[in-house]
Order: sequence, then C-alpha cells, then structure tokens
Amino acid sequence: MDLEREFVLQNYSRYPLVLRRGKGVYVYDTAGKRYLDFIAGIGVNALGHAHPRIVRVIREQAGLLLHGSNLYYHDYQGPLAQRLARASGLQRTFFANTGTEAMEGALKMARAWGHKLSPEKYEIVSLENSFHGRSLGSLSITGQGKYRADFEPLLPGVKFVPPNDGAALEAAVGGGTAAIVMEMIQGEGGIFPVTQEYVQAARELADRHNALLIFDEIQCGVGRPGTYFAYQRFQPAIQPDVMVAAKPLACGLPLGVLVATERAAAALGPGMHGSTFGGGPLACRVALEFFDILDELLPAILRVGGYFHVRLNELMRKFQFIKEVRGFGLMIGMELAVPGKQIVIDAMNAGLLINCTHDVVLRFLPPYITTERDVDAAVKILTRVLGKV
Ligand SMILES: Cc1ncc(COP(=O)(O)O)c(C=O)c1O
Repeated sequence: MDLEREFVLQNYSRYPLVLRRGKGVYVYDTAGKRYLDFIAGIGVNALGHAHPRIVRVIREQAGLLLHGSNLYYHDYQGPLAQRLARASGLQRTFFANTGTEAMEGALKMARAWGHKLSPEKYEIVSLENSFHGRSLGSLSITGQGKYRADFEPLLPGVKFVPPNDGAALEAAVGGGTAAIVMEMIQGEGGIFPVTQEYVQAARELADRHNALLIFDEIQCGVGRPGTYFAYQRFQPAIQPDVMVAAKPLACGLPLGVLVATERAAAALGPGMHGSTFGGGPLACRVALEFFDILDELLPAILRVGGYFHVRLNELMRKFQFIKEVRGFGLMIGMELAVPGKQIVIDAMNAGLLINCTHDVVLRFLPPYITTERDVDAAVKILTRVLGKV
C-alpha cells in the first residue's frame, strides 16, 4: 500500500484491503481472512475465483500460444465470434480488450455509418445518468457531468436525454443522428432498467432515421440478467444494430467485444479499426470455455437472483432507510436514504465485499456460481451491518 501511494497514479480511492487469492465465491486477504465476494471485480469474475475449468484452459493455453497478433489466425477467434453471433443474434464481432475500447469501436462504426450517408449525420443520442467508459469517446457519451467535466470539450454532436422518456427521445433523434446508445440496465448510474416501451420506441426511431441502435451490455450483459444479454429479457427481444460487452466475458482476463449486424459492420472496412491485443488466443479460449459453462448456469442465475431479490426485500421491510431494491438476475441495487460508504466498509470488515454507486445505492454483482446458501450468508452479514445504521 505504501509503494502504491508513492508510485501509482492516485486516481483510485482504494479500500485498505490487499487481496491475495480466491476460491469460488470467496477471496482471501494477506492475513488469510475470508470475504464473500458479492462485487466480483465489478461484475468481472463471473465464475468466481480459480474455477477449475478456467484454470485448466489458461494453464494449457499459456504453454501453447499467448499472443500471435491480428496479422495471423488462431484457433479461437472464429469459434468465439460464431458463439457470440448465436447468443446475440448479431453477425460480426470486433475483438477489443476492455469495455471502453469496445464502445470506441461502436462509436467509430456509428461515425463511419453516418459519413457514408451524409457529412451532417454524426450525432449520437445518449441517456442521462449513463456510463460508457473513460476514454475520450466513451466519456463524451457518458451522461454524468462529474465524469466529463475535467476533460471538456469532448466529442461534438452528443445529445443527452432522460431515460424512459419517449417524447424527449423522439425530439432528440433526427436526420443528423448516427446512433442512439443506451444501457439496458444503467449500472454505474445506480441499477436503473429502461422499459420495454422505451427500447421499442428507440428501435423505431433508429429505423425511421436510419441511425444505429447501440446497446451497452458491458455491465448488464453476458449472463448477468439471467439471459445472454439484457435486451433478451424483453418478449420478444428487441435487437440492436450493435452491442458491446466486456466484463465477464473472459472471467478476469481483459476482453471486450463489439458485435454488429452485417449491415452495420460493413461501415468499418479494411484498415479502419484495429487492436494489437484484441482477441488473442488466451482470452478467446477462456471466453469459449466460459460460454460452455454459462449455458448450464443461466437458469441458476435467474433462480438465485430471484431468491436474493426476495431476501433483500425482506431487509427493506425491516429497515426503513432502504428505499428500493432494483435489478434483474444477479445485478441488483439497493437504494438507501442514507450514504452507503460506511455500510460498504462495515460489510467488508464483517467479511462481505459489495460496493456503492451514486453515494446511496448498494450494488451487488455476485458471481454466477452463487448459491442460495451464499445469499443467506451475505444477508446475515448485511442484516448485522444495516442494524448499526
Ligand atoms: C455500462 C458500462 N460501459 C462501459 C464501461 C467501461 O468498461 P471498462 O472499464 O472495461 O473500460 C463500464 C465499466 O464499468 C460499464 O459499466
């Protein structure tokens, strides 16, 4: 900790906890103290820690080929793109390394899409309270001033509209719109889902104005809501033109993807985009293994997520300062009438890792292998911690 304070850029405010190892839903600090991990690296460690099948493929692949660059083919990029196409209903994948990078790709696709139609077609319509990443492009469409303020001016032509307000969206979208971007469940913004009617309206407006509809599934997607992607919660699913995902895809190895329809993908031709590390054999192989496991886990995510929801609603009846429990599957927020920071610290000291977003929303993103018993253990700790408020 001392060395970090001296030599690492001071852009994070870390909790005073040094993690050394993990197994299943638990992580351990340097003293060997055990913590129930209900934040999972902010939604990354989908299979918990040291999952035997993930450990096995990483070991094997490390001895074969870690990186070959995008100059050449390898065994896993094609099969993973095929798997993503089957899961998403979208045809073509670009492989990046992080969420924000996947979003940069989507923004470039939107710009190139617009350029082909008219030099005036470059606007992006995005939602207030959204979060899309920290690079200048992703930041430009992030609808929270606190993240953008220090870096302005950012990309021109971005319009922000309030979520779930169809009339405001209709007023913002027009011939100059290249893309409409939204999270199906705003994560950083406090676990706020958008409604089916709203997403349907966005789909119709995008079609009417020949704009791309881009869904950011980086936090809410890839199994977390109990479906492969959060837009598949709707009956029938509302298909985007472009979808970006990252966090859980390679279970802790960096991997981000942009997946697009054939029509949208055609906007980015040879030489227009690229990445040195994106889609390497190690990350792609792990992601393929993860998808095999995820197929078996989806029903459990819904079941255990539903149970967690019920248990948190019990807490809401017990503690008056809990205002609302929101979310789907294993993406749950609990909004409080009091600041959440101390609760997060108390929970950590009591052996439960969670975090707090927007000052008052406790955020739970447990691994997909979480069981009802793990939920009971977490709720027991939470009850104790909340009882002190
Ligand atoms: C919805 C959403 N989009 C984009 C990002 C950025 O992803 P990354 O931190 O991998 O760049 C995040 C990260 O929290 C996110 O939650």
